[in-house]
Amino acid sequence: MSGLAAAQAKAESVEPLGVYVHVPFCASTCDFCAFYQTQPTAAGVKGFLADVECEAESIAWTRPVTTVFWGGGTPGLLAPADLARLAAIVRGRCGGAPREWTVELAPASVTAARLEALRTAGVTRISMGVQSLRPELLDALGRQHTREQVLRAYERIRAAEFPSVNLDLMFALPGQTEEAWRADLEEVVTLAPNHLSTYCLTFEEDTKLWVKLARGAVKRDAAHEQRLYEFTWDFLGAAGYAQYEVSNFARPGHACLHNLNTWRMHEWIGLGPSAASQHDGWRGANIADLAEWSARVRRGERMTEDRLELTPAQLAEDALIFGLRMNEGVDLDRWRARAPQAPWTAVEELVARMVEDGLAEWSAPRLRLTRRGRLLADAVGGEMMSAFAEGVCA
Ligand SMILES: C[S@@+](CC[C@H](N)C(=O)[O-])C[C@H]1O[C@@H](n2cnc3c(N)ncnc32)[C@H](O)[C@@H]1O
Ligand code: SF4
Repeated sequence: MSGLAAAQAKAESVEPLGVYVHVPFCASTCDFCAFYQTQPTAAGVKGFLADVECEAESIAWTRPVTTVFWGGGTPGLLAPADLARLAAIVRGRCGGAPREWTVELAPASVTAARLEALRTAGVTRISMGVQSLRPELLDALGRQHTREQVLRAYERIRAAEFPSVNLDLMFALPGQTEEAWRADLEEVVTLAPNHLSTYCLTFEEDTKLWVKLARGAVKRDAAHEQRLYEFTWDFLGAAGYAQYEVSNFARPGHACLHNLNTWRMHEWIGLGPSAASQHDGWRGANIADLAEWSARVRRGERMTEDRLELTPAQLAEDALIFGLRMNEGVDLDRWRARAPQAPWTAVEELVARMVEDGLAEWSAPRLRLTRRGRLLADAVGGEMMSAFAEGVCA
């Protein structure tokens, strides 16, 4: 067996490990987006790459990496040579080729040279933020790209023959009718991506859209959102995209392994400003500020924000909250065995209520949400948190 094949065989036999790299650069800020990002400068990019290397060096890499995900920000904004450098830094820590390696791209910066650099580096999956194909809606979101740029970028990505391609779309946008959303879905399905993420717009604090909402210039309509959710699920199901999470749909074999592993509470290491990690018994995030993250990394400090020791009960709580958002649901018996000290009496009472109300179905050992439950997944998550909090206090 070659060294690489041995590393891959080992990677498949041990607990999955993900790596998330947050590339914090965008050409401009979209009106809805609260992800940490800043405008790129030559010095900023150079320093970022050096500090990611420094951060990666400070970690004990004790087993091979299963999946890599570069998000942002806009990783695809880096020059081809910088993409290759970042890839070399990350690959050097992976202990062989990861099973899946995703890079997020924004349509305006997709060039053949960048795609070539990513393909050569071993990237297996491209995720492009389309959001909408209607010019007026792209304008309303403050997006920098046009519909034509999306179509050209998609052609280039397909020509580069990545094994898997995802497109991100958003719905319940200000001024978006059901017909406009249907038109976006119809058109995007004709492009035949392997995976689709469809996100209901959330008004994130301090974004331009949030300010508009606070001023009453735009409004939320919960009933309209629900109709769009249900329409999306029916439409994409009929088009051959199986739903595997509230917002995610895939052709067979194309579900995003990195996200699945995260939702199943496996470990991942986050690199870069604002990146979260779940590793070595701790969860935490890096500070969301490029200069401050850099200073801390150079002092040997990472995961400085929102640090939380991961007890089995904490992991069980999160496994339930995130697990129930997935169509596969969650194996309650497994979590009960792993976290016997979690407040199972309170959880069981909630589960019984959810089943009675038609929000969940229990088929031992798995608990899954029904379609109605999935529509209320955020509220279900909130109730699960309360059950854990009350049960612990009781
Ligand atoms: C981390 S963003 C980055 C993708 C890439 N920079 C781009 O915009 O093309 C990933 C996706 O999250 C979704 N997203 C970001 N903010 C959102 C919000 N406030 N509500 C719903 N979806 C959002 C968008 O679909 C976006 O493509
Ligand atoms: S949506 Fe993407 S391109 Fe827009 S600001 Fe957020 S990360 Fe940047």
